[in-house]
Amino acid sequence: MVSVAVLGAAGGIGQPLSLLLKLNTSVTKLHLYDIVNVPGVAADISHVATNSEVKSFLGPKQLADAVTGIDLAVIPAGVPRKPGMTRDDLFKINAGIVKTLVEAIAENSPRAFIAVISNPVNSTVPIAAEVLKAKGVFDPRRLFGVTTLDVVRASRFVRDLRSNVDAASLRVPVVGGHSGTTIVPLVSLASSPVELSESEIKELTNRIQFGGDEVVKAKDGAGSATLSMAYAGARFADSLIRGIKGESVVEPSFIALAADPAGAEEIRKLGAGDLEFFAVPVELSDKGVSRIVSLGAEPSAFEREAIAVAAEALSANITTGVNFAKGA
Ligand code: NAD
Ligand code: LMR
Repeated sequence: MVSVAVLGAAGGIGQPLSLLLKLNTSVTKLHLYDIVNVPGVAADISHVATNSEVKSFLGPKQLADAVTGIDLAVIPAGVPRKPGMTRDDLFKINAGIVKTLVEAIAENSPRAFIAVISNPVNSTVPIAAEVLKAKGVFDPRRLFGVTTLDVVRASRFVRDLRSNVDAASLRVPVVGGHSGTTIVPLVSLASSPVELSESEIKELTNRIQFGGDEVVKAKDGAGSATLSMAYAGARFADSLIRGIKGESVVEPSFIALAADPAGAEEIRKLGAGDLEFFAVPVELSDKGVSRIVSLGAEPSAFEREAIAVAAEALSANITTGVNFAKGA
């Protein structure tokens, strides 16, 4: 019995993500919330022949009901980028949206797991944490910034370089954050060795870091990644649900490192320093983060340098989020 709410369910990500969650047989209740168009989306998805029950919630008056009795809230609500914008340009609008939604979750389902997709993730997750702290219900093990799309891109882009690689099974740990140079793929620590030249690694790293821009440019004003993000969001939700049900599942995610202070030591020494939030490989369980998984070996010198660059930018992004939530 797993009840999931999708907040922003009528959007470009929300619709295909809700469909994929309807196909997930572990999900028994699906609450779809948006400020527009959601009754139609919910009616449509509710006809898919799986056993879960789909309910529609429209507008702020129905928000509390949407997030009551849920185990997991996935949040893709908010505006996407247009060409020429950075993810930080979305902060003005999306910060307030995420704050309102997380307040409602804190008040109505304080033990729910929360997976934030809305950008800029590097700042919206710190906002969510501050809201939960202010409500006295913050458990760092239960809050996640969804960085799975970076992991998905890393596997797929390696496959573009080496056709003998299986994109579906190759896992490249991606650490740091979710924007530009804060995204640090650790190709040298992939689940199976990938032989690439120095220049290929540099190009691959840059492509993963700016993969979102490829889509924004191709969509030419019609938004950013939605379908690959729905796939990534559904994969993250499924991993978390499998973790909740007792399987050992590892996914990188942007989390509060307080979730596992001992496990965080390795990444702190590698360059995360005293940052409160960082994307790291996480083992999931019924508590959410059961531990931060060790990288298993030293990243390359190139990757360590990239972690240092990421940490500097992340520090500013995190402070922006925290200050907003505190009204500073
Ligand atoms: P979209 O505009 O297609 O959909 C957003 C939806 O949010 C809309 O249906 C809108 O009505 C809804 N919404 C707006 N304000 C709301 C509120 N207060 N409460 C509930 N719903 C609200 O955008 P999209 O393409 O689905 O992208 C959504 C967000 O996800 C953007 O911020 C985007 O940058 C981000 N994103 C993140 C990742 C990632 O890897 N984490 C990947 C892709 C996109
Ligand atoms: C992505 O990585 O595709 C998303 O964060 C959306 C964007 O703005 O690029």
